[in-house]
Amino acid sequence: MGSNEVSTEFSKDLEFVPENGCLSIVVFGASGDLAKKMTFPALFNLYRQGFLPPSEVHIFGYARTKLSDAELRDRISGRLVYGEAASSELSEVVSNFLQLVTYVNGSYDSEDGFRQLDKEICEHEISKNSQEGSGRRLFYLALPPLTYPIVCKMIRDCCMSKSDLGGWTRVIAEKPFGKDLGSSEELHKQLGELFDEQQLYRIDHYLGKELVQNLMVLRFANRFFMPLWNRDNIDNIQIVFREDFGTEGRGGYFDEYGIIRDVIQNHLLQVLCIVAMEKPVSLDPEHIRDEKVKVLQSVLPINMEEVVLGQYEGYKDDPTVSDTSNTPTFASFILHIHNERWEGVPFIIKAGKALNTSKAEVRVQFKDVPGDIFKCKKLGRNELLIRLQPAEAMYMKLTVKKPGLEMSTIQSELDLSYEQRYPGVTIPDAYERLFLDSIRGDQQHFVRDDELKVSWEIFTPLLHRIDEGGMKPIPYKRGSRGPEGADELVTKAGYVRKQGYIWISPSL
Ligand code: BG6
Repeated sequence: MGSNEVSTEFSKDLEFVPENGCLSIVVFGASGDLAKKMTFPALFNLYRQGFLPPSEVHIFGYARTKLSDAELRDRISGRLVYGEAASSELSEVVSNFLQLVTYVNGSYDSEDGFRQLDKEICEHEISKNSQEGSGRRLFYLALPPLTYPIVCKMIRDCCMSKSDLGGWTRVIAEKPFGKDLGSSEELHKQLGELFDEQQLYRIDHYLGKELVQNLMVLRFANRFFMPLWNRDNIDNIQIVFREDFGTEGRGGYFDEYGIIRDVIQNHLLQVLCIVAMEKPVSLDPEHIRDEKVKVLQSVLPINMEEVVLGQYEGYKDDPTVSDTSNTPTFASFILHIHNERWEGVPFIIKAGKALNTSKAEVRVQFKDVPGDIFKCKKLGRNELLIRLQPAEAMYMKLTVKKPGLEMSTIQSELDLSYEQRYPGVTIPDAYERLFLDSIRGDQQHFVRDDELKVSWEIFTPLLHRIDEGGMKPIPYKRGSRGPEGADELVTKAGYVRKQGYIWISPSL
């Protein structure tokens, strides 16, 4: 934190279930890629910061692959300290963490493995002087969603903690939750018969990103923005996600889902909710999620004339992708929010793979200044940029006097670049934060059932049209800005692009 900044601890008005006592974390899909790259490193980081005390915690990996404890530890150890310089102190922390991790081998659809898992969890609880079944049990599903119903049923039948003894059971599930409204509702029904909404944590890791969390503070803790954040002052808002790599290694999964289901229906829509929602009554997770649902309910049906789809050239060369695939790897469209604050303000959503850059940002463009006495309109409009990644930053593009004797103007920016402003501060990984939230029982940054339903309602007509071949993605070159028509759509929506102005991140 900069020396002239004061930090405030705010009370969340939340009644957390007690955070201590025996805790068992079970990672299903422990031998897979997601577990290795994201889950175990996030748990390790929580451990080294003291959030997972060895006196209480044990981590169970579970998967179908036959592995010993040592083999699982070996598999995950290399990614725990990715990019950090080796030191004896660090290796000791790693080795202590690995001692907390053991492996249970079993299938996902028969009770044997789950009974064994329960037995080992009970042994852990007893070893911590807790009564069998009285501990906190957190199950994380790093698995294909098709397996969720059966795995949840097995947890329900074999591995539940006993709430009458003070224990709790929570399940964290990764997207995609279904492929459209119908399948999502079906999944919801199946899981709903097994667990209460308070036990289900639908993870959307974008909600755990530092700058996404800061969006709320920015909007609701700053007088500056309150009077400006509406249709009278804002011309258009863009929410953009770009990746400069394709679907390599994930083609089979991606071809089933496409870019809209992969990142837009979840990550970008969640960001839109926070940008557009009204101030919640309090920071109570339900108050926040209530406001997000209202935004989603106010989104008008997508106008198919305002959609541009693309597929990068070479996508179908992947042997796991169908030769006739109609799956978009790029999509851009306009969402309109029909409410008092936003009517007439286009929300331009754009996401694509294999583009020229990798970045995720929110770009709020303000209207022209009325009565332009400085004739500065041609320089460009005021914009507020919230750059989620890489090089986390918020900056405001504004017109200022060019230094010197003449009265002429230039565009400059007020820049809060995190790396420069907070040198040495490590921004926690999204998964780390979300794991901690789920242990604490805070569902604020998880997707509630009604949010999920409305978000599928928005996209299902468009998705069905694409699935039925009624809309074809336009081919675009790898490393380009996307398909023809994408930039035109943005211009048509009212975004004024200023050629020649480039923001240079101080940290890059
Ligand atoms: C995942 C998508 O949910 O998010 C991926 O399935 C995408 O396709 C990823 O690459 C992006 O996450 P991040 O945190 O790297 O922006």
